[in-house]
Amino acid sequence: MCGIVGYTGTEPAVDILIEGLQRLEYRGYDSAGVAVQVEDGLSIVRRTGKVGELARACEGLAPASTCGIGHTRWATHGTPSERNAHPQCSCLGDIALVHNGIIENFAELREQLAARGHQFASDTDTEVVAHLVEDAYEDDLLAAVRHAAHQLVGSYGLAVTCAQEPGRIVVTRQDSPIVLAHGKDGSYVASDIIAVIRASRDVVVLGDRQFASLDAQGIRYFDDNGEPIEPEFMHVDWDIDVAEKGGYPDFMLKEIHEQPRVVRDTLAGRMVRGVLKIDELGMSLEELQLVDRVCIIACGTSYHAGLVAKQLIESWARIPVTVEVASEFRYRNPIITPTTLVVAVSQSGETADTLAAISEARIKGGKVFGITNVIGSPVARESDGVIYTKANKEIAVASTKSFLGQVVSLTLLSMVLAQAKGKMTVAQTRLLFRELADTAEQIERILSDTTAIEEAAQACKDATSAFFIGRGMGSAISYEGALKLKEISYLHAEAYPAGEMKHGPIALLSEGFPVIAVATQSPVYGKVISNIRESRTRGALIVAVATEGDEEIIKHADHVIFVPKVRDAFSAITVSVPLQLFARAIAIARGCDVDHPRNLAKSVTVE
Ligand code: F6R
Repeated sequence: MCGIVGYTGTEPAVDILIEGLQRLEYRGYDSAGVAVQVEDGLSIVRRTGKVGELARACEGLAPASTCGIGHTRWATHGTPSERNAHPQCSCLGDIALVHNGIIENFAELREQLAARGHQFASDTDTEVVAHLVEDAYEDDLLAAVRHAAHQLVGSYGLAVTCAQEPGRIVVTRQDSPIVLAHGKDGSYVASDIIAVIRASRDVVVLGDRQFASLDAQGIRYFDDNGEPIEPEFMHVDWDIDVAEKGGYPDFMLKEIHEQPRVVRDTLAGRMVRGVLKIDELGMSLEELQLVDRVCIIACGTSYHAGLVAKQLIESWARIPVTVEVASEFRYRNPIITPTTLVVAVSQSGETADTLAAISEARIKGGKVFGITNVIGSPVARESDGVIYTKANKEIAVASTKSFLGQVVSLTLLSMVLAQAKGKMTVAQTRLLFRELADTAEQIERILSDTTAIEEAAQACKDATSAFFIGRGMGSAISYEGALKLKEISYLHAEAYPAGEMKHGPIALLSEGFPVIAVATQSPVYGKVISNIRESRTRGALIVAVATEGDEEIIKHADHVIFVPKVRDAFSAITVSVPLQLFARAIAIARGCDVDHPRNLAKSVTVE
């Protein structure tokens, strides 16, 4: 959600900070700000709205300054406004800091600080940290930040600068990412690798309760006691181009088109001499054989990937699966035993609800396996084993390629479990793997002609509400189709298992009400057709996603989007692609910014 950048070196800081903030904008964007060191102190500019607003406000600001910090904010404490935007300052305005996360004990700290005479200028939890640093400051910023950090309860990534220490930035973190890099022109810090790789591809991911002190010459690292430590460098081999649109009008479309690659990369190296391998699982064959229940925890789109996996694991491995919304899981005393395999699915790897669910599962003795897109993310670190989904950086707020990577990874996991349970032979595994790999080419075919999708979108764009229906796998994927549509087009959409329509939702149908039906070939195809007929009789406009070569469906639908024939188990992979494109086409037709839907942030690091 929020994004941090900082720079100290030899180049004009404002330009570098603005560029870094633009790279981080996808994380959250209700306000943004910078603080740069100038001759007589700190110069601070904050604006509500997008980083572009801030960039305009910073034109001509402090061209000689070579040290500063910046932030994009997605409000958690205090409404989005200039006074609540970061950087936040001390009373004297000589200490400024930016913060990601939530300070849980901020109310009591604020009271104590106010009693000591500190004056507060915002409603944020962040501001208390600036005053704590001010309170502790003598002549060493690092010591003051350490002192302040020791009083904080909650999560934080912090970058602090101070007028008395020219060219210096101090950072620390707890449960919120901080990445550092030193390059030819100075030292960089950010909450995301993407904003520091202009400096160097060898970066350091700061550990919890570690500190770093940056100046133009380099970065020094310290532990919680202030003792110097040696950093561990990580080499980043992906290219900065991943953060650019690559010729597409928006990131969402670019990322949808990357999906064939995601399938290929996620499968690469998994089948070795005919044997399916997930070494990162961190579980022996004996341990896998003991698994008697799988519990998938996730939020939003990742939860929908879990719904797909439930169908696969139960039908292939015959292990009961529950799929749990992570924010509910921790509060309902869930049943987890040492033979429960808990699978945490999270694109960002930093969703607070999912992380909390992981720790709850661990307390209860479950073995936790993570599926995430972000290397070194908290989900990866907190899990016993992890599969990385190889989607690469996903910039558009609405998940597309990372969903596909999750579904493919969960499919592999399902196959491994089925093999371990003796329910899938080696020959069956190889056949399925080949068919799974073929979906990359099938997606390419879907992407090569989107005319039917666009026509269907045109027919639905003025609706106020839509239903997505399907059965079995079709029902799981309908939930994702509906979420995609509502989050980027603001058109109200709900998903139902098709058979549920007659138990209530059908009352809402009237002339022209769009019903998007997943009607691919499956054992329940005939049942879905009857549900489509029930809806059509009540005036619904039917958009069907069906299997190429299906002549029957044309009689029952106003628009048909054909997808290549795959076995039902893989239909979530092929069907999700036209549903993503359908949602995007409607959003574009309604004039929406598909990459930055209102009220949403890419990663949700607060409960
Ligand atoms: C929707 C979307 C969200 C996320 C959810 C979980 O397109 O992206 O629903 O899926 O916030 O995020 P992660 O997967 O990062 O845990």
